[in-house]
Amino acid sequence: MSCSNTPPFRYGGVSLTNTLCFHSLLFAAILVLENQDLQDSIKPQKVEFRSLNFNSTLHWQPGRAREARDTVYFVQYKKLAGRSQHSLTSFLLFLHRYGQSTWQNKDDCWGIQNHVCDLTTETSDIQEPYYGRVKAVSAGVYSDWSLSCRFTPWRETMIGPPTVIVIHSNKSIILKLQAPRSPYKRKRGSKIPMTNYYDLLYQVFIINNLLDEQHRVPVYEGKDKVIKIENLRPGLSYCVVAKTYVPMLDRSSAYSSRQCTVLQ
Ligand SMILES: *[C@@H]1O[C@H](CO)[C@@H](O)[C@H](O)[C@H]1NC(C)=O
Ligand SMILES: *[C@@H]1O[C@H](CO)[C@@H](O)[C@H](O)[C@H]1NC(C)=O
Repeated sequence: MSCSNTPPFRYGGVSLTNTLCFHSLLFAAILVLENQDLQDSIKPQKVEFRSLNFNSTLHWQPGRAREARDTVYFVQYKKLAGRSQHSLTSFLLFLHRYGQSTWQNKDDCWGIQNHVCDLTTETSDIQEPYYGRVKAVSAGVYSDWSLSCRFTPWRETMIGPPTVIVIHSNKSIILKLQAPRSPYKRKRGSKIPMTNYYDLLYQVFIINNLLDEQHRVPVYEGKDKVIKIENLRPGLSYCVVAKTYVPMLDRSSAYSSRQCTVLQ
């Protein structure tokens, strides 16, 4: 695994108890080597965060060895205190704090057989960087921890497309656009829309020819929630798709599902 944003880490391996007598030391060393091999071969691979609209889950793959039926996984996460900083002093302070922040067990993902763990609640300080790590246990053998890259929800979550609703269409098409919602809730229980976290623009595209999907130019770009598309020809069928776009990060969502309508 390579993370451009991750400082190097080292985790302790096996520790020998010092009660072994000299004669069995060689034998023990071989066992330890074999054990180390086994540990390495079940160590989870490709531990990574995947995040859509701040629904953030940790994913991994089984170790090199074929996954035994009794393999279970344990997940921990850690929040780095303090935001990513730029000056040297704050960077050192950041490193210092990093050393102090501690790993937390994720109770719902403690001894699970899945390869995914929902860390949405644990990563809710969206500006802060997080790490996740996973350990495997199989036949009584524990692997080392396998570490994710650094994950900063605000920077890295994928933003979904808006929901597009065609209100009516006779001479023109009137659309309602609805921003995707985050999993985080207001006090009254409604889910906070992504527009709360980002300066989002909607891009609306007309497609009447499915072949030119690659070369779409938006017929609308802006923040309005209700928009009107005019200068369309009656009797024709039009399909509309939309995207969200975050100028600050220069990032676009996928296309929304297509809404088609025949103009009267
Ligand atoms: C995140 O998404 C998954 C898959 O859609 C869903 O099962 C889970 O409940 C979501 N998590 C939260 C906290 O909303
Ligand atoms: C278009 O539809 C709206 C709403 O259904 C209606 O009020 C309006 O009269 C219609 N316009 C035309 C030109 O048919």
